[in-house]
Amino acid sequence: MLVGHKGIDEKQLRGEKVIEGNGSLVKQKKKRQVCRMGVVVSLLGILSALAACGRTGSGEETAAVPEYVFTYAENQAEDYPTTQGGYKFAELVKERTGGKIEILISAGAVLGDEKSVVDQLRFGGIDFTRASISSLGDILPKMNVLQLPYLYTGQEHMWKVLDGEIGDEFFAEVESLGLVALSWYDAGARNFYTSTKPIEKLEDFQGMKIRVQEAEVMVDMVEALGAEAVPMTYTLVYSALQTGEIDGAENNWPSYESMGHYEVAKYYTVDEHTRVPEVQLVSRSTWDQLTPEYQQIMRECAQESAIYERELWARREKTAMRKVVAKDCQVVELSAEEKQRFRNAVMPLYEKYYLEYMDLIEAIVAVGETE
Ligand code: GCU
Repeated sequence: MLVGHKGIDEKQLRGEKVIEGNGSLVKQKKKRQVCRMGVVVSLLGILSALAACGRTGSGEETAAVPEYVFTYAENQAEDYPTTQGGYKFAELVKERTGGKIEILISAGAVLGDEKSVVDQLRFGGIDFTRASISSLGDILPKMNVLQLPYLYTGQEHMWKVLDGEIGDEFFAEVESLGLVALSWYDAGARNFYTSTKPIEKLEDFQGMKIRVQEAEVMVDMVEALGAEAVPMTYTLVYSALQTGEIDGAENNWPSYESMGHYEVAKYYTVDEHTRVPEVQLVSRSTWDQLTPEYQQIMRECAQESAIYERELWARREKTAMRKVVAKDCQVVELSAEEKQRFRNAVMPLYEKYYLEYMDLIEAIVAVGETE
């Protein structure tokens, strides 16, 4: 029985009008009509469900009941491009498996922060996620190469790398973690933003506390620039900026806007220090339950969802930028010389990561030089 719903009683929930005094007869009559209608509606519901379990108009067997129901963790908001990409993926998979596979998207980090979600995926607690590759770098150091500061000449260069042989090589590497990578999602370029004063030159980093993703390479980068790095979960950044626990952070335009960070850190410095791609992952233990046919469908749907996400991304970057500027965000453009100083400052990172992955980094750079 429906009682005690924040002061709404059963009658109100059903939409029944309460008639005072001698209206009780009318009320009972109405109630009986509602009941009868309810029975008819339920019967119709059961009949149509039975029909759906049976046959379609073309006479084919249909699958009304899913064979698998999977979880999918996403730490961004519902309307964010990556979340929308996840929904597209789930929709395509459902459609192409005739409803046999259902993927339930949980947005807004309700299944946990990115790093712990990745851990859960590795041990089969969550089936799917979309994650920033920063969350993989500490467990798969080679992954850090793909997010080295100023590695790509631009977006096009990054996609050539990821959509080519090098991207495939990384997909294969991910398997050693007990994960299967399905597609690359866009996350644009990351920039610094601060609350106390704008970053206009390298020296401005001195004495600042900048939040970074929980990844060694990100800590190294911010320290090389001269600030104090504060690794922290994404969902805690807003309040840390608000309380002054940190002076700034770094992220792409859509995250800056979507998480409301522009409200508490209005200086945004466009230095595009990193491009950190994102990846759709599935737990190996989930993957191994699927037939090769289902696996193939999953791969195709993930790729299609990535195309969709990249389109949404391009649009959202523009709208996010417009929105924050209209809300008084001060955009700082760096001169070419200053950008070069930022680049030079992070060179020690290249030395640290270059030695082990020299050939790979050279190959990535070479992709950017080809037509
Ligand atoms: C981006 C990315 C998130 C990540 C976040 C962060 O917004 O899409 O997945 O968690 O950066 O800075 O932590």
